[in-house]
Amino acid sequence: KRVAILISGGGSNMVRLVETMQDEGYATPVLVLSNDPAAAGLEKARARGVEAVAVDHRAFGKDRAAFEAELVKPLLAADPDVVCLAGFMRVLTPDFVRRFEGRMLNIHPSLLPKYPGLHTHQRAIEAGDAEAGCTVHEVTAELDAGPILGQGRVPILPGDDADTLAARVLTVEHKLYPAVLRRYVTGERTPVEL
Ligand code: GRF
Repeated sequence: KRVAILISGGGSNMVRLVETMQDEGYATPVLVLSNDPAAAGLEKARARGVEAVAVDHRAFGKDRAAFEAELVKPLLAADPDVVCLAGFMRVLTPDFVRRFEGRMLNIHPSLLPKYPGLHTHQRAIEAGDAEAGCTVHEVTAELDAGPILGQGRVPILPGDDADTLAARVLTVEHKLYPAVLRRYVTGERTPVEL
C-alpha cells in the first residue's frame, strides 16, 4: 500500500509513520506534502528518502479551491492508496475530501467527539477533565467527525498547562498513529485503544 502524508510543521507524527513503514514494511511512504514551504518536516522526509513537496497556501489568498487544485496535483501524481493528515493545519473542502473519502486518516489531539477544532488541551484543562488524549479517525466532509479508528488516553495532572499536556499527548500520538495505520492497510477497522 502506498501512503502519502500531509503536514504543516515539524512533522513528528509523519516521522514516526515513515520510520515504522520503512522498518516494518507494512506500507510504503510515497510522498510528504506540506502547505508551508518552511515546514521542518519536509527536510526530515527527504533525509529518510521520501519525496517532499510544498504548496504554499498563502500564494492563493482566500481562494481555498485554487490552493487545493494545486495541492492535489503532486498527491494524484504519487497515486497513494491512503492519505494521512499528520499535523496538517488547513481545513480541506468537502470536494477535496470526497476525492479520498474512505482512504484518508487524520490524527486529532483530543478524545473525540470531545473538543473538535483548536486549543484542545487548554479546553480539557479548563473543563477540569481527568484525562485527555488523541484520536485517529477517517476524514469526512465534517471537520474532526469521521469514524474513529483509534484513541490514546493520558491523565491530566495537577499543575498541567496546555504545553505539558500537549507533550504528554504527543508521545501517545506517536504510538497510536503507526498502530492504526499498520492495521488500517490490512483492512482492519476495529478501533485501537491505547
Ligand atoms: C501537534 O499539536 C499534534 O498534537 C497534532 O499536530 C501538531 C503537530 O504535530 N496532531 P506534528 O509534530 O507536526 O506531527
